[in-house]
Parts: sequence; structure tokens; C-alpha cells
Amino acid sequence: MISKITKIKSKKNRTKIVCLTAYSKNIAQSIDKHTDIILVGDSLGSTLYNFKSTRSVTLEMMIKHSKSVRQGVSNSLMVVDMPYNTYNKPSQALKNCKKVMKITKCDAVKIEGGLKIIKIIKCLIKNNIPVMGHLGILPQTTKGKFKSKGKSTKERNEIIKDCKLLEEAGVFSIVLECVERKLANKISNLIKIPTIGIGSSNNCDGQILVIDDVLGLTDSKMKFVKKFVDVKKLITEGAKKFEKEVKSNKFPSRKYSY
Ligand code: KIV
Repeated sequence: MISKITKIKSKKNRTKIVCLTAYSKNIAQSIDKHTDIILVGDSLGSTLYNFKSTRSVTLEMMIKHSKSVRQGVSNSLMVVDMPYNTYNKPSQALKNCKKVMKITKCDAVKIEGGLKIIKIIKCLIKNNIPVMGHLGILPQTTKGKFKSKGKSTKERNEIIKDCKLLEEAGVFSIVLECVERKLANKISNLIKIPTIGIGSSNNCDGQILVIDDVLGLTDSKMKFVKKFVDVKKLITEGAKKFEKEVKSNKFPSRKYSY
């Protein structure tokens, strides 16, 4: 049987790869048929917990949310983000990734960085842990405002070098966050594994967005965020209708009572 990872890799240059985040079972279940990859992103820190950065997200939080997501995923490849400070050295990374894979039954993990963490990535892959890379803006280590990456030659060369290193190390795909479109194009043509863009143009092999942004549940002002539906409006409408029926004694009628 072809593995889900082989399937994802084989989509390069054939069909765009569709990825979304999910942090709970019900959302995962609702999107699973329309996604190739579901990422339990550490963006849950800002999206759900109002943290200022993803640095406050813990391994325990990722495991709890991933266990919930697992219940809703059957079609997509499920990837779990390893949070900040959980992969500082190979032995620590291996211990934590093994724990995440075992408890959440996810298919792969994602970690941020290139050259600086290459030994860690090699160690994980050697130990049969599938890894998704993440380059460009790295939210776990970027301080201040998120800007785009690839403006200077030095920055461009660094990202290209990192992409090649990650590919050689054996990652199955790379998220490119806020990478300028020309550079995203160059990288996507250069490497054989799929690039998954967020704010990095349609030159990437696939796209990922945070599900709460897609559903209109957040007020994100990021340039790359597109609200595809306004679920917040629907939730408010539902609550308003409920309020009206409770106050007018219409709900619960006999039909909804024991
Ligand atoms: O944490 C996250 O959700 C992510 C993606 C949006 C790429 O890393």
C-alpha cells in the first residue's frame, strides 16, 4: 500500500496540495475530505489561547489537541507541530517526537528551522519519524513584526541553502512562510519535495492557512489571510435565535423535552 507521505510527495507538479490547521475533532472531521494535510499547528497558542507568541505553547497542549483532532481525521495526513523548546537537541527531540507520535497517532511532525536544527532533523528521520520542514518566517524564533523573507541576496541564499539541506536530510515537504513570490518559485523548481506556502504566493506546490482565519472566526489582519466564510456571523445568528426562543418560552417545546 502506498503511504500517505508518498502520496503527498507524488502530487508535486501534478496537483496542488491542500492543507489546513485543526485543533479539535469536529473541525478536523468537517474539513478532512477536502484536505491532503491537516496540521495541528502551534498557532493554537494565539488562535485559541490568546498567547502573544507560540513560545508559550507546551507539549501537553499539543498532545491534548492532537488527540482530539485524530478522532476526526481519516483521509488526510495528520501532522503535529513540535512546540518551542521541545527539540533543542537530538536526544530531547527524539524523546518528545516519539511521545507525540505514540500518544496522538499522528503521521508526522513539523519543526521550524534549517541549518541550525539539521542534526536534529537527521536524527528524527534516522529513527523513522517523518518530518515536515518550516522555513521563511519562523514564528517560534522571530521577534517583533512578521515581515516577508527573501528581500536581500543574503536572505535568499540562506533560505535556498536551508531548503536543499532539509531536502537532503529527508523531510517530505517544507512549509514556506511569508517568502517572496520569486524566491518561492525558485525554491519550488529547485527541490523535488513539495513546498507548502503561507503568504508565499501560488508559486508553491500547496497552500496552508489557519482554519479559524479561513472560517472568519478571527480578526487577523495578516496580508495572506483570506476569510472564505463568515462562521462568526452564523454562530452569532444561532445564539440570537436560541436567546429569542428561550426568552419567549418557545424552546424547549414538548418535542425537545422528556
Ligand atoms: O502553527 C501553524 O499553524 C503553522 C502553519 C500555519 C504553517 O505553522
